[in-house]
Amino acid sequence: MVFDDTCWGRGYATDALRLWTNYLFATRDALRLDHATYSGNPAMVAVGRRPGFVEEGRFRRARGWSGAVHDSVVLGVPREEWLAQCGRPTKHASCGDGDVHLTP
Ligand SMILES: CC(C)(COP(=O)(O)OP(=O)(O)OC[C@H]1O[C@@H](n2cnc3c(N)ncnc32)[C@H](O)[C@@H]1OP(=O)(O)O)[C@@H](O)C(=O)NCCC(=O)NCCS
Repeated sequence: MVFDDTCWGRGYATDALRLWTNYLFATRDALRLDHATYSGNPAMVAVGRRPGFVEEGRFRRARGWSGAVHDSVVLGVPREEWLAQCGRPTKHASCGDGDVHLTP
């Protein structure tokens, strides 16, 4: 996906993050999960926001990239919020669209 721009903008990264988050909450007792990126990549910020991650931290002018300086952005979701929007996570069922089966 990262290397094939014909696959961008179809919701694949959002689906992948949703599945990964669901899987981690189902198999670990983590209180929360973070999604860290930087302001120069608005697509990655959108990928975090769409499944329900909320911006919780912004470190201003923290990262240089391609001749510009960007903020470091951290979005997070606590377990309770994830469960409230997705119900009980399972290792074999996705939260949201799709019907992808994961092998632990
Ligand atoms: C960033 C990346 C992983 C996103 O994957 P994707 O499958 O295209 O993402 P999705 O289709 O699930 O969602 C993309 C979201 O970003 C938005 N978006 C895409 N390009 C954007 C841009 N230039 N500016 C603002 N938003 C943008 C889309 O509109 C969409 O959000 P929306 O549905 O709310 O409008 C992919 O574009 C990619 O691999 N990019 C190049 C490499 C990279 O940046 N990798 C990540 C850092 S290592």
